[in-house]
Amino acid sequence: MPIRLLVVIFCSFLLGGLVGLAAHPEAWPKTAIVLPVERTGKALVGGPFALTDQHGKRVTDKDFRGRFMLVYFGYTFCPDVCPADMQILSTALENMGPKADRFAPIFITIDPERDTAERLASYVQHFHPRLIGLTGSVDEITAVAKAYRVYFSKVKDESAEDEYLMNHSAFIYVMNEQGEYLTHFGHGTKPDAIVERLTKLL
Ligand code: NI
Repeated sequence: MPIRLLVVIFCSFLLGGLVGLAAHPEAWPKTAIVLPVERTGKALVGGPFALTDQHGKRVTDKDFRGRFMLVYFGYTFCPDVCPADMQILSTALENMGPKADRFAPIFITIDPERDTAERLASYVQHFHPRLIGLTGSVDEITAVAKAYRVYFSKVKDESAEDEYLMNHSAFIYVMNEQGEYLTHFGHGTKPDAIVERLTKLL
């Protein structure tokens, strides 16, 4: 691929990343989300995973073949950004009517030490009846976050002893029916914009 085209692709991803970060105070300290591109220009985002859902059942990415995965990485103790994004995603799916059945909304925790299956079960039900919560071992979560180019790290919560917050990038990744990356939405994208974009994919 000509280097100039690579630079253009890199910059547009970088811009998308920075817009997402700017809107997400949790993720401020880190910049540049770098999404490497293949020679074909296809972004190398996503990949196989094996995790545990909110019912304690083991699931893999293959269980979602035939549906578009809407993958979000966050944590249930997140005070503001994650709940806001899950609310937006749920509203978008509700507004899509029956077409929403083509999409599998998935919330993957980046705080597996606190986000047990039980905790995820009570969390996801606040948003959408089909929202799937996934957790796993620290190694499993680290691997899937790496595959999706997701940044996360613990930060001490100054307001409470022994407590911590998580810095993390906040994107809704859209994966096609074969589990391949198509696009992503930054934090705060309006439900209407999400509906419009997703509808075009069908
Ligand atoms: Ni969050």
